[in-house]
This record gives sequence, C-alpha cells and structure tokens, in this order.
Amino acid sequence: QVEIRHAADLVVQLSTSLQRKPDVVDFGTVFTDHMLSVEWNANGGWQTPLIRPFGDLSLHPACSALHYAVELFEGLKVYRGDDKRLRLFRPLLNMERMSKSAKRACLPAFDQSELLGCIKRLIEIDQDWVPHLGSGCLYIRPTFIGTEPSLGVKKPNRALLYVIMCQAGSYFNTELSLWADPKYTRAWKGGTGDCKMGGNYGGTLFAQQEAGSYDCQQVLWLYGEDHQITEGGTMNIFLHWINEDGDEELATPPLDGIILPGVTRQSILDLARKWDEFKVSERYLTMGQLCSALKQQRLKEMFGSGTACRICRIGSIVYEEKVQNSQNSSSWDKSLSSNLLRINFALFQHGRSPSDWTY
Ligand code: COI
Repeated sequence: QVEIRHAADLVVQLSTSLQRKPDVVDFGTVFTDHMLSVEWNANGGWQTPLIRPFGDLSLHPACSALHYAVELFEGLKVYRGDDKRLRLFRPLLNMERMSKSAKRACLPAFDQSELLGCIKRLIEIDQDWVPHLGSGCLYIRPTFIGTEPSLGVKKPNRALLYVIMCQAGSYFNTELSLWADPKYTRAWKGGTGDCKMGGNYGGTLFAQQEAGSYDCQQVLWLYGEDHQITEGGTMNIFLHWINEDGDEELATPPLDGIILPGVTRQSILDLARKWDEFKVSERYLTMGQLCSALKQQRLKEMFGSGTACRICRIGSIVYEEKVQNSQNSSSWDKSLSSNLLRINFALFQHGRSPSDWTY
C-alpha cells in the first residue's frame, strides 16, 4: 500500500521574496509565492511533502510525462467568504477524480485526505492571494506526473505530485460561440476522456484553431454517426429546453466513458434535482435534436460548465456551415437556470448560504 505521507510531516520552506500581487490578470498566468511537491518512487514510496517557494522543476530529459504524456491534473478553487473564511468547493470530488485518473495513468495511489490536508496548508501560507473583494478566487492546480528517467513505454517507477495556485481571473468574458463538426473527436469509448489527463487537452488545440477560422471560440465536440453532443471546449454541456415529449428538461450527456465527470456538472445536477422544478436528465443529446428544438423555439438556453469557466452561456453554434443562434432570451434574464445556478453556487462559495459542499 503506497500512501502519501501524513500532512503533519510537511516540511515548509518559506519564500524570502514575496511577489507584488497584480490586480487583473489572464487566467493561469500569475502564480502564488509557494508550491507543494511530493515525490514518489517504487522503492521508498511517498517521500516527505514539501512546501517551497514557487519555482521551476528540474526534470530528466527522458521523463515519462514529457515523452508519453504520463500526466494528469485537477482544477479547484478557493473562495474568500464575507466572514473572511476561506472555502473550497466540494474538494473531495476532485481528490476522488484525481485518484481515478492516477489509476488510469498507472501512477501510484495516494491518500486523498492527506493530500487535501497538504493543500490546505499551502492555501494557509498563501492566503493573502485569495482576493479580498468581489467574487474573485484562487485556482488550485494539483498536477501528477511520471518522472521515470527512461524511454521505455512502461509504468513509471518515479513520480512527482505537485500543486500550484494562480489568480483565476475570468476564463471567458462573453457568451460563447461553438463550432460543431464531426471531423474531430475529443474522446472515444475505451479511451481516457473521462480522466483529467493533459493529453486530452493538448490534442484539442488543432481543432480549436480551426474553430477560430469559423469565428468560433471553442469546439462543440460531437461523437458517433448521430453527432451526439458531448462537451464544448473544456466544458460539460447542458441544454435547458422543452424536450421532444413536451417536458421542460435540463439535460446533459451521461457519464458513459467519454465525458469528464465535472464537479460543477455534478453540482448543477444535484441542485436542479433538489429544486425539483423540471425534469433533470443525464441522457444522449444529438445535433439533430438540438436543431429541431432551435427551429421549433423549444430551447430555453444552452450553457457549458467547468471549474475554470464556472457556468458560461453558449450564444451560437456553427454546424453544417450554418450559424444557429442558440439563445432565445437576453443574458440578463434572472430566471434563466444558468443565472440561478451561478447565483446559488456563489452564495455557497462565499459563505452567504450554509452548505455542506464547502470545506
Ligand atoms: C477546469 O475547468 O478546471 C479545467 O480544467 C479547464 C481548463 C483550464 C483545462
């Protein structure tokens, strides 16, 4: 049994030169003063966790993460409440997903609550980086890489788990435009699309660039002969509509192996089911169904969800060379479920409404 050493063993080396914190930055460009790292090797298991000044890594040029993408990551956020306390949103779901990704990547198991304990110490040390005003937050990026210094394609005997934190900024500022074309596939049955591995993202850049040539910001990822809607850019996708049977429904594709099990996705489903105001489904959705709904004005709204982007409305889709306007109502219609969800999550995250989702 290989387990991360107890968070209480943490060694802390504080930085002697703290950075000035810039006001507004692009997502993921400015990092906090410290980082956490824990090394693992097959003989000695997990080594003592270390918090040290943020800085470069030194890696063997044959390192398995660099050659064979033996790599995975997580994304979660810490928020400052009106009561000044800092809160993570459902972090155990991230720890659980990270464990699943590690298993699929043949990286070692770790103790989820000990890792969370180490992350908590890192946040405490860099707590001044969590914005004091507004809805700002800090984005936390746990990363796990194979560091085997060998070109053999094999399960790594060495690994490094590290955590960095950055100013979150806003990921998308506007309603999104998506380009839907079945010629590219994000994930496939039996693949790794349901794990948070770097390769799933790097492999999408080429298609994203092509989306740009259609004046679209992101790709709407389709799957199969029937052009199933799967994800949009790096987001899970939701349709709020009157479905084919005439029922009001909030629907998102099911976790069938090609969909990332998003924490925001799960929270939207949980909250909407608690509201019990319309049908909430995890079901297959095709472009044909979406196009009929648009034609018959049955689509209330379409949005994407993710930790980085939160909840982001989708304004238009380019499909089969035609631009489809996917929003019937104005962005500021407070009754839209994307707005209500966004408002509710913010209440929990900033401690304005009690919630057992925060840690
Ligand atoms: C997230 O929403 O946390 C993501 O992982 C998206 C992206 C920045 C890769």
